[in-house]
Amino acid sequence: MPTLSLSFAKAALPKSGTLVVLVGDDSALPASLSSPSLSRAITLKKFAGKSGSSVDVLGPEGIAADRVILIGAGAASDRDHVNLGGKIAAAFGSDATVTVLAQMGEAVLEPHQAAELAFGVRLRTYAFDKYKTKATRKDEDAAPKAQAVTFAVANAAATKKAFAELDAVADGVVLARDLVNEPANVLGPVEFAAEAQKLEALGVKVTILTEKEMKKLGMGALLGVAQGSVRPARLAIMEWMGGKSKEKPVAFIGKGVVFDTGGVSIKPAAGMEDMKGDMGGAAAVIGVIKALAGRKAKANVVGAIGLVENMVDGNAQRPGDIVISMSGQTIEVLNTDAEGRLVLADVLHHINKAYEPKLMVNLATLTGAIMVALGQSHAGLFSNDDALADGLAKAGTATGEKLWRMPMGSEYDKLIDSKNADMKNIGGRFGGAITAAQFLKRFVGETPWAHLDIAGTAMGSPSSDISSGWASGFGVRLLDRFVRDNHEG
Ligand code: BES
Ligand code: MN
Ligand code: ZN
Repeated sequence: MPTLSLSFAKAALPKSGTLVVLVGDDSALPASLSSPSLSRAITLKKFAGKSGSSVDVLGPEGIAADRVILIGAGAASDRDHVNLGGKIAAAFGSDATVTVLAQMGEAVLEPHQAAELAFGVRLRTYAFDKYKTKATRKDEDAAPKAQAVTFAVANAAATKKAFAELDAVADGVVLARDLVNEPANVLGPVEFAAEAQKLEALGVKVTILTEKEMKKLGMGALLGVAQGSVRPARLAIMEWMGGKSKEKPVAFIGKGVVFDTGGVSIKPAAGMEDMKGDMGGAAAVIGVIKALAGRKAKANVVGAIGLVENMVDGNAQRPGDIVISMSGQTIEVLNTDAEGRLVLADVLHHINKAYEPKLMVNLATLTGAIMVALGQSHAGLFSNDDALADGLAKAGTATGEKLWRMPMGSEYDKLIDSKNADMKNIGGRFGGAITAAQFLKRFVGETPWAHLDIAGTAMGSPSSDISSGWASGFGVRLLDRFVRDNHEG
């Protein structure tokens, strides 16, 4: 991945390199771009600025730039500048010097719109290629070491200011993607906790609990999962207190199973490699804390991530084992592969007790069942509080990290009652994502709470305008927006 530098300058046509121009179905080319070869290409391609269309011309007559790319920006009513930025990045590829005209026809974009273009460019150019050696890296010789993208804008200072905040959010998304992509042999619970500790540099207070400390707190559910791994569990707590000093925090809690073999209830071999991403919830939480601290959000937010590895071992827990959670409630572990809820049970209880947060949102790659229900374009939203659910759903619509509310209720709750303990960790064959949510609900007391099942959206994701796929960083932009719109200032 070449190093990318993004800058903003007063609009002017470049003397060389690649020029990117936006064309909506309601706007023409800027008058300064008259070129017979460009006009001919537009006619031959019947280019009318439709979303998804483009025209790409090398060395157009009468224009100094070496390459001109026209990007269809579609109708103004459904124009999303972040996604448009992603399309721009996909079009210029590995070109070393790029100028993007941040205008539609003669109309200049607002500073926040131009900043969103740059944000989309940054998200789309992300690649996880650190383990590609020269021998296998595609186009190694052709690709430049550095890429400079300049946005030609009306007000460079205002655009730069707007981008600084989005740049912090992008840092959070990139961190989440990196962690989800990182293989489990490199990223164990201890290494993940060290990543959380790094946020101290941004003014975040970080506390890491060891197994000994978690044992003292009585976290039998989390530790039962961890006991099958030679790598010890950690609980990382990150506090960003940018808000008023007496205000209760918002709490974000993440499932951080660095690898999920299923344990003794072992998973099939095919596709098991994907379970390196079973810490997507924890990645989103560390990512959003990084984003909030990076943009100095005026909000009090606690992030907590339960970090364990679910392995098969002589010391692993067995189906039928009964564990005592920190809340005192007992759990019969009928399937060791339903481990995420066991981890979250203790983290939710601990955070609720220790911080008395005004609300809690947990994120987890919790069930395959949510993928059966919703596919890969919406995460499941479960909540005991309508206002909280609405706030999250709105943030989802605004960012494109979409949520779909799922039902909860006593009919589902009774499916996890157990003969031998207070509850069992699996329901029946039906409604698997819902019974998982009912399980979590038993550990949150009266606190407004929402659970986001991101199994279908955080990992194994299809590519999009702003993501080249697999690790999407889902949740970071969503929660950043949720905080900005509901808990800041
Ligand atoms: N981590 C998995 C869920 C998952 C599946 C995430 C596919 C991403 C992609 C979770 O720990 C799990 O194994 N859930 C089981 C629960 C079952 C045993 C009740 C499942 O969904 O099959
Ligand atoms: Mn599992
Ligand atoms: Zn899991």
